[in-house]
Amino acid sequence: MSRTEQIKPAPLDVHASPRPLSGDIAVPGDKSISHRALMFAGLAQGTTRIVGLLEGEDVLRTADAMRALGADIRREGRDWVVDGRGIGSLDEPADVLDMGNSGTAARLLCGILASHDMTAVMTGDGSLRKRPMRRVTGPLAECGATFLTRSGDRLPLAVRGAAQARPISYRLPVASAQVKSALLLAGLNASGLTRIEEPVATRDHTENMLRHFGVPVDVTPLEGGGCAISVQGPARLAARDVIVPGDPSSAAFPIAAALLVPGSSILLRGVGLNPLRTGLLQTLREMGADLRLENERVEGGEPVGDLRVTAGTLTAVDVPPERAPSMIDEYPVLAVVCAAANGRSRLRGLAELRVKESDRLSATAALLEANGVSVTIEGDDLLVSGCGGPPPGGGSVATHMDHRLAMSAVVMGLAARQPVHVDDLGFVDTSFPGFVRLMNGLGAGIGA
Ligand code: S3P
Repeated sequence: MSRTEQIKPAPLDVHASPRPLSGDIAVPGDKSISHRALMFAGLAQGTTRIVGLLEGEDVLRTADAMRALGADIRREGRDWVVDGRGIGSLDEPADVLDMGNSGTAARLLCGILASHDMTAVMTGDGSLRKRPMRRVTGPLAECGATFLTRSGDRLPLAVRGAAQARPISYRLPVASAQVKSALLLAGLNASGLTRIEEPVATRDHTENMLRHFGVPVDVTPLEGGGCAISVQGPARLAARDVIVPGDPSSAAFPIAAALLVPGSSILLRGVGLNPLRTGLLQTLREMGADLRLENERVEGGEPVGDLRVTAGTLTAVDVPPERAPSMIDEYPVLAVVCAAANGRSRLRGLAELRVKESDRLSATAALLEANGVSVTIEGDDLLVSGCGGPPPGGGSVATHMDHRLAMSAVVMGLAARQPVHVDDLGFVDTSFPGFVRLMNGLGAGIGA
């Protein structure tokens, strides 16, 4: 049994917020950047100090895996300090690597293992063991690695890494930063040029952080859109301190709650504003949301700012499919916001939601339906008929080991007329430890 499966289910009834939300908060560190910081620091030569690391279960799994590969990782005060092993000098893990609930940890780690001459076995919890791994194991085999997976290319898997890895050249068939990153990571220990074509831009934290650790990354626009990203291997990463910005995907939940609970006004400090992550903010603005950015700055190579959110009336939105990569994790909570808006929203091109921590497309539809909101799935689009104010609520939400569904259900409860029953809040700790405490600090009264 995976560690995350040992967490006891934590059901909860969430009532409408007893008062407007107000106050000033900082959300935890960015999950994508935190995974990468630990991995890259572990692959670097020298000592890296990480400020603001997300201490969520997902990221702690990455820390354990990098320790198993020989990196020394410890908490010093509020920072994390990593003594890296250097590319090509990793230890073969002595035991199975348990990646818990985290697809990012599992897939990026496959990239590291594929180009190292060792054998490793990887598993995850019940959610992760259902998720497709072929999207990484397929192209990674090109470097000379061999993967043995369960039927349907699922975890647990065993990988025999290449003794002398070849560089990979690959065009991404799905817009996935995880796949892009896995291939670039493999390329760091391959001889020659690894080149990935990305038809639609996805989050570029890997590219940014590789440069931060001194590895040149070339990005060339492609005719007809998209770009080609390449790295020359073997590469050497030089340890550099990392500052992790607040996670915009976590910020999405207090932002949504503040928009929906009448009279609310909150300030979120230090939210990451990487342009490949800000699709939700753009969409909410199109709905008429009052969002004001203050104090925009660059910290640790990533743009950040403070965001003032004020409640107000929202109108329906039509979100184009090409925006999906820049807000892929935000659709469940956006759907909750749409449920309270005026008019019918259409969120287009959501096929990838079917292979997240749960089938988020049908689970999001079920969340809304259970709470009296009319919703339809048409092909890969989600259509939500807004209630023009608080949704009825009163439903019971199955969260399917999915942290973002759980937090979306909490936002629904805070905004709805009748309490919402959430079957399990336990998985919230994978990405947003302290979520309930932080929301209650704003006045949400969850569990009171
Ligand atoms: C992530 C990329 C996204 C996202 C996930 C984190 C990353 O997945 O959903 O939560 O850190 O690269 P895909 O790249 O598979 O879309």
